Amino acid sequence: VGGVKIVKEDVVREDDPTNNVPDTIFSKLGLQLHRRDNHPLGILKNAIYEYFDTNYSGKFVKFDNLSPIVSTKENFDDVLVPADHVSRSYNDTYYVNANTVLRCHTSAHQVELLRQGHNQFLVTGDVYRRDSIDATHYPVFHQMEGVRVFSPDEWQASGLDATSYAAMDLKKSLEGLACHLFGDVEMRWVDTYFPFTNPSFELEIYFQEKWMEVLGCGVTEQEILKRSDRMDNVAWAFGLGLERLAMVLFEIPDIRLFWSTDERFTSQFSEGQLGAKFKPFSKFPPCYKDVSFWISDSFTENNLCEVVRGIAGDLVEEVQLIDNFTNKKGMTSHCYRIAYRSTERSLTDEEINQLQWNVREAMQSKLNVVLR
Ligand code: PHE
Repeated sequence: VGGVKIVKEDVVREDDPTNNVPDTIFSKLGLQLHRRDNHPLGILKNAIYEYFDTNYSGKFVKFDNLSPIVSTKENFDDVLVPADHVSRSYNDTYYVNANTVLRCHTSAHQVELLRQGHNQFLVTGDVYRRDSIDATHYPVFHQMEGVRVFSPDEWQASGLDATSYAAMDLKKSLEGLACHLFGDVEMRWVDTYFPFTNPSFELEIYFQEKWMEVLGCGVTEQEILKRSDRMDNVAWAFGLGLERLAMVLFEIPDIRLFWSTDERFTSQFSEGQLGAKFKPFSKFPPCYKDVSFWISDSFTENNLCEVVRGIAGDLVEEVQLIDNFTNKKGMTSHCYRIAYRSTERSLTDEEINQLQWNVREAMQSKLNVVLR
């Protein structure tokens, strides 16, 4: 499956200071891992499709090819994200320019699809977030959004008020989905907050002796329906992270593996085989390098992680703050430990020393920090 490759030069004006999308991220646009039927993310997407197809006689319309480049209006305003919400910051979101972002959630498509008149739909896509680096975080991941709209006759017949009816249907549908994917598991609902739903919930399942969050959802804010010319309706919506679920279902230990083209990874998955357990090929040894520096006011961990990722790419496994102090003069020092490890081969000392050297150089030139 070939998605449309997006060329940076076509969407970003040269040296536009309102762009913070690096080339490493542009290179991921159009790869569409979720559209590969033999990839764990495609297998999981199809298993969720199957659940909705069997239980709703195919009435959910599916979208998995919508462009990840969206307006700030679609990504934030349309779904009622407040003007001062952190997710809007350049530190958290990739901006192509001042009014255009790489979507940070598939909720960015809710309003356009509601406006087009869809009443039940699933949207799957790659989403982008600036974040720290560890085994479960990667700046590109995949989400699936589901929305279902009800008309007044549906809840009126039940004797429940509209919101209770939608919340009940939502919980029933998603409990069914969790059973379809995980079998007979213990589940619980936790109240939470999203700007676009009220009430809002998280579904957790008890897995490997821990409660694990599997998705966020809720009854759609009436304001969103109003803006989509659906004043008289109620709706529910959910959003789930495919990597998170796939890591559990296939026992994939490191999120970078989803991007691997190593045949020892790719050959282990085939269409329709949900939950085939991944057999790790030997884990190669990690190598740790520490870097200490005086920060400036503008320092953020996300910026550091992007610099490291820009140099080391997928060879970086984790970036962790291990020491933090402020001296009498008010200067703050951080020490970060960078774990380098390839998922595919052993790294040589020379190679890692060179990477670390390049990281230090890039930190000095791009982050306005003073190395110690
Ligand atoms: N967009 C939310 C997120 O990315 C998930 C969500 C979708 C929550 C729809 C509620 C309704 O975290």
